[in-house]
Amino acid sequence: MALVLGIESSCDETAVALVNSERQIVAQRIASQDEEHAPYGGVVPEIAARAHAEKLAPMIEAVLDDANVGLRDVDAIAATAGPGLIGGVMVGLVSAKALAMASDRPLIAVNHLEGHALSPRLADESLEFPYALLLVSGGHCQILRVDGVGQYSRLATTIDDALGEAFDKTAKILGLGFPGGPAVERLALDGDPKAVPLPRPLLRSPEPHFSFAGLKSAVLRAKDSGLHKDADLAASFQQAAIDCVNDRLKKSLDQMGDVSALVVAGGVAANKVVRTALEALASEYGLRFIAPPPALCTDNAAMIAWAGIERLGQSDSLDIAARPRWPLDPDAETVRGAGVKA
Ligand code: KG4
Ligand code: ZN
Repeated sequence: MALVLGIESSCDETAVALVNSERQIVAQRIASQDEEHAPYGGVVPEIAARAHAEKLAPMIEAVLDDANVGLRDVDAIAATAGPGLIGGVMVGLVSAKALAMASDRPLIAVNHLEGHALSPRLADESLEFPYALLLVSGGHCQILRVDGVGQYSRLATTIDDALGEAFDKTAKILGLGFPGGPAVERLALDGDPKAVPLPRPLLRSPEPHFSFAGLKSAVLRAKDSGLHKDADLAASFQQAAIDCVNDRLKKSLDQMGDVSALVVAGGVAANKVVRTALEALASEYGLRFIAPPPALCTDNAAMIAWAGIERLGQSDSLDIAARPRWPLDPDAETVRGAGVKA
């Protein structure tokens, strides 16, 4: 049985985990930086990098202690090497390099997006390639066909905001604080999803790409009008976003060829209303629906360690650089307006 240590530091979660090849999360710790960033209404890269630097080393020690193992019991050290906020990624990657060197264990540089993309296989051993993946987080919003480890074909991306970003901006408009996704979901429970007429950008357009900037602006105008209850705004926003996702997914599934399942991953996959809508869509297409448990959807190190398990045998050079951008499908064409989010 193989054991991999995973390190995640690409955004505002410092996380360390030990995962084995039997799909057991042997130990893990996650330190959120929500409190540090909350006064600014979003993640401040410099604050994030400092917090990772302060927290990471003691967390690595604690996780090894929790599992009662030493570095020499580990088969590889996997760390997020991008994409993400470069200062934070460097903190995690440099730490992993030092551990790999000290313990003479291989370093596996993991693409954070691959961590999300493969996390459903950690949660469900019966999930086989190929599968359709909706990857929805704060920085990314993509539909991919996953044919194997490292084999991703991107069918859709966003031309402006990511879905999680749209949730966060809506939360800001409604004064719900940061991070916004869970707060919008909670408030929406008391609202009517049909109360506020909001646009569904790109609905039925032939390419399956996403756009959420216009929806966010419409939420802002509706809020400023003073005509609506915040809970109705939250519920109506959430419903509009889900309608867009459903439509874009249908377009993609029609173009994708045979797949074994519809899979959702990334922070927004923690949203119960989104999950329920996707489950219905999957059954319409006769597909299994697989979503990791919410704690595996938002950023964590178990998914990074698991990607390391999937990539065992690989050994990256200690010279490898942290990457602010690292697309899962480098061959995918650039989409107008999507430069930052591809
Ligand atoms: O995957 P993740 O933890 O970090 C990134 O790689 O971006 O995703 C974070 C994003 C944030 O935008 C957050 O608001 C959103 O996921 N999110 C949610 C929920 N939980 C997290 N969005 C909607 N509903 C939720 N329950
Ligand atoms: Zn993420």
